[in-house]
Amino acid sequence: MDQEAVVLAQIKDFVKERLQNEGTGHDFDHAKRVAHWCEALAKEYQVDRELLLAGAYLHDTIDDKVTADVSKATTEVAAFLRSLGFQTARVNQLLTMIAQISFSKELAEGRQPLSIEGQILQDADRLDALGAIGIMRAAYFGGHFGEPIYDKTIPVQIYHDKASYRKKSTVVNHFHEKLFLLPAKMHTPTAKIEAERRVKLMKEFLKEFHWEWDF
Ligand code: ADP
Ligand code: NI
Repeated sequence: MDQEAVVLAQIKDFVKERLQNEGTGHDFDHAKRVAHWCEALAKEYQVDRELLLAGAYLHDTIDDKVTADVSKATTEVAAFLRSLGFQTARVNQLLTMIAQISFSKELAEGRQPLSIEGQILQDADRLDALGAIGIMRAAYFGGHFGEPIYDKTIPVQIYHDKASYRKKSTVVNHFHEKLFLLPAKMHTPTAKIEAERRVKLMKEFLKEFHWEWDF
């Protein structure tokens, strides 16, 4: 194994351990799919591979859905990276990139200018919220937080801030409130095409869903 592979193997083990009790769809399998799409999307660009792939695996370990104490988790992830030999400036670069890519952060602070690695990571993370896996993850997330599958008396909302985004909705509303907005937000052309393909499937799924539900 070369040095990059050794470092990544240690990061993977760390993430696997930290996300092992994760029950909202932000588990190690999600991290692996995000890393896979980061590699695929990065082919067309000059990127810092170590930063990108480390970010792909670590991106949900400091998220407020996954951990109750974000600042403690951030300190622990930083200490882990330092133990692997990452310099402090590089640790900060990585943690800043991860913090910037989340949808809730975008709602809280507006669209951030992202590095190429941040753009690719955000695209890859968002692809995993779409398509067949996206449907399953939204239902899994909704079940975890006690959201109804669907309720036609609850209107679709437009989110302006993080607090309204984190308010309970329904799984079906979440498709309209966030997921269908993602293709237009993709940075790379390849991710945009794939996102549109996945949204098409989700719209067909919803047609069938309503045919079965609305009698
Ligand atoms: P980000 O990481 O960009 O801030 P989230 O972590 O909030 O975005 O969303 C990631 C995943 O969680 C997505 O797959 C999404 O479908 C799911 N999710 C987030 N909020 C809801 C919700 N209210 N209902 C169902 N699924 C949700
Ligand atoms: Ni994610």
